[in-house]
Amino acid sequence: MTLTQAEKAAVTTIWAKVATQIEAIGVESLERLFASYPQTKTYFPHFDLSQGSVQLRGHGSKVLNAIGEAVKNIDDIRGALAKLSELHAYILRVDPVNFKLLSHCILCSVAARYPNDFTPEVHAAWDKFLAGISSVLTEKYR
Ligand code: HEM
Repeated sequence: MTLTQAEKAAVTTIWAKVATQIEAIGVESLERLFASYPQTKTYFPHFDLSQGSVQLRGHGSKVLNAIGEAVKNIDDIRGALAKLSELHAYILRVDPVNFKLLSHCILCSVAARYPNDFTPEVHAAWDKFLAGISSVLTEKYR
């Protein structure tokens, strides 16, 4: 995945806003994931998945912070997320299909919070960026 300069700029700009709401957007994304695609809950049998639980807030923040690392290293997302890629493939064994679902939920949470900033161009760039992260996190499966 190669982002154009304009796409990188769009991702960085919307991220500056998201970065101020890491926990809230992280939790909302997970809550959307578990409500819309309940099968994804099977990866979290050890979590209290009730709304706004401590574990959901902690995990939501971790996921969003990892996305922040990818923004900071937008020219080397693979390097930035190498350890996470191994974790999801070899230890957690998350089926790759679930990354599309979570990406969609993150996208919805960002769009809902910043409707005026979420122009078609930002939408397309953000979608491509999340698809790039998903492809890095699932490439060890092949
Ligand atoms: C753990 C990021 C997608 C399931 C983690 C951690 C991070 C992370 C940062 C914590 C790692 C650590 O503690 O060292 C991401 C990102 C994703 C993604 C950026 C895609 C955008 C998914 C998906 C699933 C999933 C799609 C399954 C539906 C898990 C599980 C854990 C985990 C079960 C371990 C939770 C725990 O026991 O604390 N992920 N993840 N992840 N992830 Fe993901």
